[in-house]
Amino acid sequence: MTIQELVQLRSFNTLRLSSVAEFFVRASSSEGVLEALQVARAKKLCVRAIGGGSNVILPPELSGLTLNVALKGRTVVSQSSEEAVVRIYAGEDWHETVVWAHELGLYGLENLALIPGSVGAAPVQNIGAYGAEVAERIERLQVIHRRTSEVLWLANSACDFAYRDSFFKSSEGREWIITAVELRLSKLPITNTTYPALIGALGSQQATPSEVMSAVIKIRRAKLPDPQVEPNAGSFFKNPVVTEEKAKQLKEQYPKLPQYPLDGGRVKLSAAWMIDALNWRGQSQSGVCVSEKHALVIVNRFANDSHQVIEFAKKVSFSVSERFDVQLDLEPEQVAGNEY
Ligand code: EPU
Repeated sequence: MTIQELVQLRSFNTLRLSSVAEFFVRASSSEGVLEALQVARAKKLCVRAIGGGSNVILPPELSGLTLNVALKGRTVVSQSSEEAVVRIYAGEDWHETVVWAHELGLYGLENLALIPGSVGAAPVQNIGAYGAEVAERIERLQVIHRRTSEVLWLANSACDFAYRDSFFKSSEGREWIITAVELRLSKLPITNTTYPALIGALGSQQATPSEVMSAVIKIRRAKLPDPQVEPNAGSFFKNPVVTEEKAKQLKEQYPKLPQYPLDGGRVKLSAAWMIDALNWRGQSQSGVCVSEKHALVIVNRFANDSHQVIEFAKKVSFSVSERFDVQLDLEPEQVAGNEY
């Protein structure tokens, strides 16, 4: 295990922001993670884990030890005639895992195809797309405590999954590093075709899991900028959730603003629609712009670090709050430079 000093992480985050890690190590096994934690304790360094870097806003400087979780491997751990539980190590690529499961005849992940990032990062923000969320498939997660090195399996019910949220975004949850994920998948060809854009792409006939996966890939390629070509972190803001009363008032003023009623009377609003209505699409400042393709995505054209991106995002969210009186929260995790 080699711990490197002053490592530039631009190639480790899909926004391509300059971020220099004081110390950096890549761990390709649980033992590697435990060894890195031991070294960090001896040197009194704080530890933070990064995966595919597709949903983080890294600061210009990261103190302490940045641990790249690169554990690999996928296996079927148990199965019946109808279901299988698969174990995937955290460093595997998410989309490759979706394709792997699908090709084994294990269904349930098709709607989540082409989401950038690693398997270990997927539960943190409970990745979701086209009417599905990873939490629906998670059986349990293997985690290691970054201070005590305790190794645990956490059941789905302990992870507090919600819309783009989980226990791992809380201060207590941040203490744990996810090293493996177990998913329960179906051997029966189940599909979820409730999302409006999917219904549009598939037509009315009964679709197979393959057709759903192809449709999701096609929609994503058409609507979302490819991070390999236009550096971005996917949706930059969450869709805000408001009270029924506020939603009703907005409906009267803006009848076209898409609203999605949730259980418990609250209503989710389309942040993309509000940003688009304010003509932000394609606008730029200091090398940062709102994607021409999707108003919820911020693209880094030539900004050097997170300052320019955050400044620009603040302008966008301020204009939404001025016009609609709705608060937008960041969707990617804004990583702190100093944690202790
Ligand atoms: N819309 C606009 N302008 C745009 C884009 C969209 O007005 O530029 C409006 C349209 O009316 C559309 C509505 O917004 O009907 C919803 O758009 P879309 O279906 O693209 O979904 P979204 O709510 O903007 C969410 C996720 C995406 C996910 C899509 C599809 C969040 C924060 N984002 O976006 O996730 O791919 O649904 O399920 O929930 C991500 O998390 O990084 C991400 C890309």
